[in-house]
Amino acid sequence: MLSLLNWLQAMGADAAVGDTAHDWLSRGNDAPGSAFAWPERGDPAPGLKPPSDAPRAEARPSARPPRAASAVEPGRPRAVTPLGASEAETNARRIARAANTLQELEAALQNFDGCGLKATATKLCFYRGAPASDLMIIGEAPGRDEDLAGKPFVGKAGQLLDKMLTAIGRTEADVHITNVVYWRPPGNRTPTPQETLACRPFLERQIELVSPKIVVAVGGSAAKEILGASEGIMRLRGKWRELTIGDRKIPALATLHPAYLLRTPAAKQLAWMDLLQIRTKL
Ligand code: URA
Repeated sequence: MLSLLNWLQAMGADAAVGDTAHDWLSRGNDAPGSAFAWPERGDPAPGLKPPSDAPRAEARPSARPPRAASAVEPGRPRAVTPLGASEAETNARRIARAANTLQELEAALQNFDGCGLKATATKLCFYRGAPASDLMIIGEAPGRDEDLAGKPFVGKAGQLLDKMLTAIGRTEADVHITNVVYWRPPGNRTPTPQETLACRPFLERQIELVSPKIVVAVGGSAAKEILGASEGIMRLRGKWRELTIGDRKIPALATLHPAYLLRTPAAKQLAWMDLLQIRTKL
């Protein structure tokens, strides 16, 4: 029983959500998370008005039967709007553009229900470190420790990241640390392209507001997303590329994820070479 519980915890089931077991497979092809009490399409979620030209709910055929209002149980996670990927991105872009400070952007994210990850996460993980910095670090996604703390990179990998930054003379006070998605994916799985796409406009606005001289993507998944590349991290790392945000072109470098370095200490020499490049560039 203990092994089973350990396994469940490792898979991300780290909080009790009900007294009775659910047969999730009986939902057929309904996606995970679809059991949340979503408002019907076209009903704007709090703080998220659909664009005036958005098709109305009734105009679209849906494979999913309408959800009864009584499905909303008190104490259930908040409603999350199941927007299509491009619809979520368009909404996100409009909302993110309207934010003129990081505080406004954080408030907009708190109200944004276009990313399905929010339904299963405990807290929003926006950023850690300095609000404005010449060095911006972008990881893949919050993990369990980050989800509980509401800040990126606070677990074991984050502690190693801090040590790596200290090695090039940086502390939390002079670096801005975030992720490509702002909520923890269940079981620490890789975020889906839809989830990343929904968060992308906020990340781009965040980069504009932080205004870094360089951006560092840590790990393969963040590197692919930030650099728009398809190669693996071993090919991508250590080579300067350019990230276009608005009318700015920002030098960007991919490096190895500290979680990988914890598992593969021999790769630290490669990460050290990347860190030296970052120091030189700065
Ligand atoms: N790994 C990441 O990519 N980001 C975090 O915030 C924590 C672990």
